[in-house]
Amino acid sequence: MNTLLLDKHLAQTTPFPVGLEVSHAAGSYIYTKDGKKYLDMISGLSVSNLGHGNQAVKDAIHAQLEKYSHVMVYGEFGQDSVSDLAATLTGLLPNSLDTCYFVNSGTEAIEAAIKLARRSTGRSELIAFNGAYHGGSTGSLAISYNEEKKYAVRPLMPDVKFIELNKLESLEYITEKTAGVFLETIQGDAGIRIPDVAFLRALRKKCTETGTLLILDEIQAGMGRTGKFSAFEHYDVVPDILCLGKALGAGLPIGAMISGRALMEKFTHDPMLGHITTFGGNPVICAAANAGLKELLKDGIIASVETKGDYISSSLSAHPVVKEIRQKGLFIAIELESAEKVQQAFDYCLANGVITFWFLSCKNAFRIAPPLNITDEDLKHGVSVLKDALDSLA
Ligand SMILES: Cc1ncc(COP(=O)(O)O)c(C=O)c1O
Repeated sequence: MNTLLLDKHLAQTTPFPVGLEVSHAAGSYIYTKDGKKYLDMISGLSVSNLGHGNQAVKDAIHAQLEKYSHVMVYGEFGQDSVSDLAATLTGLLPNSLDTCYFVNSGTEAIEAAIKLARRSTGRSELIAFNGAYHGGSTGSLAISYNEEKKYAVRPLMPDVKFIELNKLESLEYITEKTAGVFLETIQGDAGIRIPDVAFLRALRKKCTETGTLLILDEIQAGMGRTGKFSAFEHYDVVPDILCLGKALGAGLPIGAMISGRALMEKFTHDPMLGHITTFGGNPVICAAANAGLKELLKDGIIASVETKGDYISSSLSAHPVVKEIRQKGLFIAIELESAEKVQQAFDYCLANGVITFWFLSCKNAFRIAPPLNITDEDLKHGVSVLKDALDSLA
């Protein structure tokens, strides 16, 4: 494993792909061609919140495919599955977030939000946070923090400042020149960094005072992962723009930029077509997403997230090799002494049928983010392998 090149005709992004050869996936397990099964404790990086192969999602995909799969670029024709998704999604959000623009990915939702923030305020300055990850395009990279991912492609979009999370003094950088502040409501790639309630409320206040848009990126933290449908519900703060992606598509690619109608209407003139996408709002994907949201709301799945997350952290936090566990619901970072220890824990878990993963911007921690509907039995099994992995490092 680990050094295998997957396919001579496919681009590689790293010389060390994990290299599992997947046969199929069901529930919380991924099955490989060599007959092994792996407990998915990362959900394909916070995507498979319902696990794999949800029947209602598959049925919705088939039903939409029978009708049609693509008829027009975004925004020109009325399409029921797209409208239905917007109705379900906005029904789960505060009233002020009533208008959805569906795109192809989380990255594209961020790109669209950058454009909306700049054109609607007439300002160019953007502020983001140390540790931020907002995507892989040049715009979203410019507001992401990790220099390791940026230096080789500079110059990036100008007029971006970074400030520190949970430092009230850093809010002074937000002024009447600032178009928008981008923040992951819970920072993911930084190793699960959680804003203080007082800080997020002060940030909201400062944005309102300066006419700056607050853009919350819940591409990872949304859709129930933290124990509420939206992570900002933990803070009693509402953003001007919300960006979603990942788990929203129930396993298919989608992003969403959501705001109030008056703000979103700035895309329709001066100039019109402020954001253009061919496949954004694809009807098959919207059907899957809508079915996925309805499934997520069933059976107390989101209500179970906090208890499941607490079970993981309370089972592991006292372990002598654990330096710290940062956790909100099933969004968890387990910090060890070093990157080497993280690699050993990862290797042990994989060899014993449990998938964990690294963070790009926090090398001495690994991530745990299982499907939100993981059964108690699977969760117990996952935690027991994690414990063994930590024991093996002691
Ligand atoms: C917080 C956050 N924002 C944006 C993105 C970009 O999403 P995508 O890679 O799906 O375009 C990611 C992806 O990991 C993310 O975690």
